[in-house]
Amino acid sequence: MIELLNASHDRKQFDCGVTALNRYLWQQASQDSKRHLSVVFVLVSPEDRKRVIGYYSLSSMSVTLRDIPVDLQKKLPSYPHVPATLLGRLAVDQAFQKRRLGEKLLIDALTRSYRASLEVASWAVIVDAVDEKAAQFYQNFGFSDLQNNDLKLFLPMKTIGLTLSV
Ligand SMILES: CC(C)(COP(=O)(O)OP(=O)(O)OC[C@H]1O[C@@H](n2cnc3c(N)ncnc32)[C@H](O)[C@@H]1OP(=O)(O)O)[C@@H](O)C(=O)NCCC(=O)NCCS
Repeated sequence: MIELLNASHDRKQFDCGVTALNRYLWQQASQDSKRHLSVVFVLVSPEDRKRVIGYYSLSSMSVTLRDIPVDLQKKLPSYPHVPATLLGRLAVDQAFQKRRLGEKLLIDALTRSYRASLEVASWAVIVDAVDEKAAQFYQNFGFSDLQNNDLKLFLPMKTIGLTLSV
């Protein structure tokens, strides 16, 4: 099950193999949630709801129009920026990787972002991939590179709505 991060979750045990993503959960996620800087969701099992199996974070951002591929830019008005949803981090504990839980978290994040965009507009979900391998993970799900930044990828909200039955 996927729920909001709260004080009952044991964050210290979490280890996805990437120090920056571990540290974020250990030290920063709960502060960011309290300050309304990001919302963090965790995957737990019904048998042990304290143990964090995976997590992701969502927040708002804006994308500079010139960073969007030209063919898509042409379909947008010439605003300097468009609103977007940032999937800043997504990780699965090493003990649980390769069981499609990363996919489960990603689909949950996209579904939630799409639903939220019906009330507060957002043109796309943007992801910050930690490295090229992580970028490949997102490309498998249809994300494309933003211009001028190989590790920032996007998936238009329109595509998400058409792909997921939400
Ligand atoms: C990347 C990560 C979230 C994937 O989670 P997972 O539960 O192991 O992945 P899944 O089992 O859901 O795999 C789904 C698909 O992604 C692929 N995939 C998994 N990890 C991948 C990686 N690191 N690079 C590229 N592709 C990957 C799988 O092969 C699978 O593709 P397939 O349908 O062709 O078989 C996890 O390995 C992780 O937390 N890594 C460390 C942190 C990280 O890199 N986070 C992502 C960016 S911030």
